[in-house]
Amino acid sequence: MNVNVVVDKGYALLRNPQLNKGSAFSDAERHALALEGLLPPVPTTLDHQVSRIHVQLATLDNDLQKYLFLSDLQARNETLYYAVLMSDPAGFMPLVYTPTVGEACQKFDHIFHAARGVYLPISAKGQVKRLLSNWPQKDVRFIVVTDGERILGLGDLGVGGMGIPIGKLALYTACAGVPPELCLPVMIDVGTNNAALSDDPLYLGLRQPRVRGEQYEAFIDEFVEAVQELYPKSCIQWEDFANFNAVPILEKYRDRICTYNDDIQGTASVALAGIYAALRISGQKLTDQRVLFLGAGSAATGIAELISQAMAMEGLTLEQARKRNNLFDINGLLTSSSKMMEFQKPFAIEHEPLGDFVAAIKALKPTGIIGVSTVPKLFNQKVIEAISEINDRPIIFPYSNPTSRSECTAEEAYAWSKGRAIFASGSPFPPVTVGGKRFVPGQGNNVYIFPPMGMAVYATEARRVTDQMFIVAAKAVAEQVGQESLDVGLIYPPQSRILTASLHVATAIAGHIFERGLARVPRPDDLSRLIAEKAYVPSYGRNC
Ligand code: NAI
Repeated sequence: MNVNVVVDKGYALLRNPQLNKGSAFSDAERHALALEGLLPPVPTTLDHQVSRIHVQLATLDNDLQKYLFLSDLQARNETLYYAVLMSDPAGFMPLVYTPTVGEACQKFDHIFHAARGVYLPISAKGQVKRLLSNWPQKDVRFIVVTDGERILGLGDLGVGGMGIPIGKLALYTACAGVPPELCLPVMIDVGTNNAALSDDPLYLGLRQPRVRGEQYEAFIDEFVEAVQELYPKSCIQWEDFANFNAVPILEKYRDRICTYNDDIQGTASVALAGIYAALRISGQKLTDQRVLFLGAGSAATGIAELISQAMAMEGLTLEQARKRNNLFDINGLLTSSSKMMEFQKPFAIEHEPLGDFVAAIKALKPTGIIGVSTVPKLFNQKVIEAISEINDRPIIFPYSNPTSRSECTAEEAYAWSKGRAIFASGSPFPPVTVGGKRFVPGQGNNVYIFPPMGMAVYATEARRVTDQMFIVAAKAVAEQVGQESLDVGLIYPPQSRILTASLHVATAIAGHIFERGLARVPRPDDLSRLIAEKAYVPSYGRNC
């Protein structure tokens, strides 16, 4: 039994999502727990329940309905919810996370059903610890927190951003086995600047402009302190903050507590994994790469920095490496004379101003382009042809999410590069046949990184999350890609194997955590066994 949960009996037990087994309560349990008569008479198994959910889902004809059905299931029977997700993680990921979660966040106030997680409005300044203490679990290891300002590529969704921490934590469990009872989604509500939301009578968050500056920072400080006091073994993962908050928050806390930002570091790691795998196709060295980013926000600078650090581990100085990662923002190439934010400065180069992306490709001769601009279609035919002219196997990663924001489609990249692109995107694209060859586009989904990172941090009780851990993760992901995948252009492990891949990646990260003396538990002889033993497996046996 889960020690944190008070054992309920009778009808209340059927309303407790952590203990409820629904029709799977055995005859003996029904007798002992005052459930007789409260359920259809014949006990069933978890497998049968999973099949029943699949049947029910098949009757629903749109993804948002399926999302809602699954979140209701999570609210009534957590074991069954995870058994369903883990029966086909690749199939369920688009339903519980991107792209469906984007629509769910946009419609949050209209579709709100059941509360989950903790909401911290800035109106509760000074009371954060008290609010957090209302969460029933006292051992929390993983917190995903957002302030809802930059949800996916969709902008300020206010309190509706809560869909992201909820969905993301479901993937920590479904894709790497982080125990769900140790996970806590948090929404920090400092207001919204989205007028459509604050004018909507159904809006559920604070109707005030976003609080900025010192008051905002003090509220984040209060949150971090409360978490440290209540949950000293926890890791805080910052999610979908606007870049001008995301970067300073990460800088402020990364060396003080166990924390990371998935948009910055997870994205960076999965992009680096894609590059490591791409090098297996092109046969080139990492230090020979030059990457041109479209966009210079938190994803771009995060990826550029991690690639630079990985290049530095292979012999370049960090300064030389950063010069090989160039940023092209809304006003053109970032050069030393551009107006820019502090976190962009390391990547500004000495160069004449260039306002046209194709001209920048021709001038800088990148081996790859990565789109993190949130603007669709900017990798147009001229762009793809320009990079394909310079490279035999150009790396083309349109990473903006959701699909509607992708800088190009897989078909466009393969067609315009005449089948030579090494392609991966932020949102999924189906396999395509171009010039008679079938390609399976990879999705540079952070899901290859953050669940195993969470699992490794949890299993080792890591004190910190370092950039090196993300480089280790990237290498471990790339190692998982088989030659048969590379042959069809797939540079990430098949998502159908996500759990196996995650456990491998978590083991590699855990090894690094022990090596660097960052663990708070003794090192066992067998690391993969440590990870496997800690991994959550949905089963009713566990709860009774
Ligand atoms: P951000 O808002 O921090 O950055 C966007 C950047 O693009 C800004 O620097 C902006 O000035 C620039 N930009 C806007 N219009 C432009 C234009 N026309 N040309 C060039 N640059 C332009 O957002 P963030 O966090 O960097 O995310 C960017 C995108 O990357 C989002 O769509 C997000 O969903 C996606 N992303 C994908 C991930 C993945 O698939 N693994 C993970 C994280 C983010």
